[in-house]
Amino acid sequence: MSISIQPQPTSGRVTFLEGQGGLPKLQVSTAWSTAEIYLHGAHVTQFQKHHEPPLLFLSGAARFADGEPIRGGVPVIFPWFGPRAGAGAHGVVRKQSWRLAEIATAADGAVQVRLEWPGETGATFRLQYVVTVGETLTLELLTTNLSATAAFSFEECLHTYFTVGDISAVAVTGLQGVSYLDNLANLASRVEEAAAVCFASEVDRVYFNAPGTVEIRDEKLGRVIRVEKEQSASTVVWNPWIAKAQQMADFGDAEYRQMVCVESGNVKSNQVTLPPGGSSTLRVKLSSVMTGA
Ligand code: BG6
Repeated sequence: MSISIQPQPTSGRVTFLEGQGGLPKLQVSTAWSTAEIYLHGAHVTQFQKHHEPPLLFLSGAARFADGEPIRGGVPVIFPWFGPRAGAGAHGVVRKQSWRLAEIATAADGAVQVRLEWPGETGATFRLQYVVTVGETLTLELLTTNLSATAAFSFEECLHTYFTVGDISAVAVTGLQGVSYLDNLANLASRVEEAAAVCFASEVDRVYFNAPGTVEIRDEKLGRVIRVEKEQSASTVVWNPWIAKAQQMADFGDAEYRQMVCVESGNVKSNQVTLPPGGSSTLRVKLSSVMTGA
């Protein structure tokens, strides 16, 4: 059974239905685009503008199950990024079910879905996530430190998987001159010399103090994707390439050719520290233009 909600006044529509693995999802359609959002992980699994290929990549082997992250779309990484001894990688909230708090309409007719992390015993933070679906996809992660006495430090990242025509014909621009840690060289610290990051083997880099806009130039699809950020000092660029793709059970062996992760957040030395009662909002706007292949 599905339930449709018509936010008023709007050109959009939101339908609540059962998604893969029986997990609840919201299907959003607007004058410009469609999107899908799972409550599991507050995970945007799909965004597609009319007459364009999907913006987000979702693996055909992705798992949709309680306690598992979804491979593709936009995993919400919080409160830590990367591996952690005794706990899973990339925090906990991407594996937990969130609550739908509100559906509203933005001034231009875009549909806004607000989700809340349900919290857990002893949690000292509150997390809200606002997904705005329109001509662009805007993602806002709002963190509040609930403690009246202690500061709260955390890492956060919107781990976005983008669809590309062929990874060999992709150039990621906007990072020249920026320092990064290379995950494939024991976290060696380097400076990006190139005008564009290109892909001919695995790439796994964390760029620091990099608040600027990043573009994904996709020659095969003839599309440029823009990643505009606010309150995001880090950008992570990742493609697993052949060997790592084969090691991942929830990712097809050849799918590395169809995706690139350009992740916006605040990680490692860019982690955020909130004073007691303080809050911050990580905001990312994704837009695209077809330029012709
Ligand atoms: C990226 C990391 O952000 O996420 C990579 O830089 C990691 O090192 C990748 O492999 C995927 O992580 P996970 O936990 O979703 O398999």
